Amino acid sequence: MKRLAPGVAALTLFAAPALAGDPAAGESAFGQCQTCHVVQNEDGDILAGRNGRQGPNLYGLVGRTAGTVEGFRYQNSIVQAGEEGLVWDEENLVAYLLNPQDYLREVLDDRRARSGMVHRVRAEAEAADIVAFLAQFGTAAEGEEEDTGS
Ligand code: HEC
Repeated sequence: MKRLAPGVAALTLFAAPALAGDPAAGESAFGQCQTCHVVQNEDGDILAGRNGRQGPNLYGLVGRTAGTVEGFRYQNSIVQAGEEGLVWDEENLVAYLLNPQDYLREVLDDRRARSGMVHRVRAEAEAADIVAFLAQFGTAAEGEEEDTGS
């Protein structure tokens, strides 16, 4: 899987925010995530990625409360954001992917908030593509009631 050319970053200033993502492009861009993330359903089937475990499973991501994959050891900030009501949707995921730490600082209104994810997607359009790709796997409708937010 090849990454998209980083050069596209310069062209995205006026791109429509999120929602316009292309899942096919997102599939190849997901190559940059799979060293750390897998998409694996309840039956244990790997739907995307290899077997990256440094980050949480991204199955059912859209509609899920932030920081709630059972058994994954998150940093405090993202757990706190989830407790305060952060639920992932296609728009806030794009913002998170562009800069996880800044995003958590903004959401928590805390300059000292820290993200356990240092990776950043360089371009908004690319982030939207990846989110569109991930949205295909176990949306809230399919995997509902998984997260109680507690
Ligand atoms: C170097 C490893 C690494 C890479 C590369 C990486 N991540 Fe992460 N990701 C993490 C870690 C670790 C966390 C947990 C963050 C925390 O605890 O604050 C995380 C958290 C997340 C979350 C929050 C999930 C939740 O359960 O709330 C999302 C969404 C996410 N990553 C998506 C991506 C996507 C999409 C990519 C590729 C563009 C990516 N990550 C690349 C390590 C990585």
